[in-house]
Amino acid sequence: MRALKQRPLLVMGNWKMHGDQAKVRALLRELCAAELSPGAPEIAVLPAFVHLADAVRVLKGGPIAWGAQDICRHPDGAHTGDVSAAMLVDYNCRFVLVGHSERRRSHGEGDALVAAKFKAARRAGLQPVLCLGEDLVQREAGRASQVVTRQLEAVLASCTPRDLRPVVLAYEPIWAIGSGAAAGAEQAQEMHALLRGCIAARGLEYARDTRILYGGSVCAENAAALFEMPDVDGVLVGGASLRAQEFLAICRAAAAFQAR
Ligand code: 13P
Repeated sequence: MRALKQRPLLVMGNWKMHGDQAKVRALLRELCAAELSPGAPEIAVLPAFVHLADAVRVLKGGPIAWGAQDICRHPDGAHTGDVSAAMLVDYNCRFVLVGHSERRRSHGEGDALVAAKFKAARRAGLQPVLCLGEDLVQREAGRASQVVTRQLEAVLASCTPRDLRPVVLAYEPIWAIGSGAAAGAEQAQEMHALLRGCIAARGLEYARDTRILYGGSVCAENAAALFEMPDVDGVLVGGASLRAQEFLAICRAAAAFQAR
């Protein structure tokens, strides 16, 4: 444990496929009205594509950034239902998730596609957030490290050194997502240190700059313990990010940690 992080904390809310216009606008307004201290972490929300325009309208000029939950690997063209990197840039998105486990599972996204999406985002000037994580069967079989290392290496192998600065990863164990039972802080730390080690093998400067978020049942009660871990550089919050006051409490826990 150490008091100071080398990297600024990042608190990100993944709104997944929740809400309608009225609910999303109310959530945005509540976030926007919050007093965020100067020591606040970097904060971002990821609404569904159809709600991005509202996010831009409400959050523009304020401290909370926004982004998307997915991206198309292709720059443009006949790709029905997809959204390109350029479209996200046009909406001033800063971040985009790639390889979220819900897409890997329900859309059959494999490592090669995730790597292509990562590069598409990076080359358009977006910050991709590469999501990695093992399921319960893999963890119980003692294969968690092997699974996340494979997921990470698949992307690293296709990247140039320029693509790697700076990288944001999100370790999201599938068994913790939506379960109400987050990984323990020490358990998260162990996996984050492993992931940082993989990046370090490509150059220490990359490892130093890489932010690794933890995701999976993060809430106001468990966030502070996660921030204490030396390799936890923020959190990717699902369910709790739909409740403005709880999300803001997580942001405040990060600010309190950074103010020490
Ligand atoms: P929950 O916080 O609801 O477990 O979701 C985590 C997640 O998948 C964020 O991307």
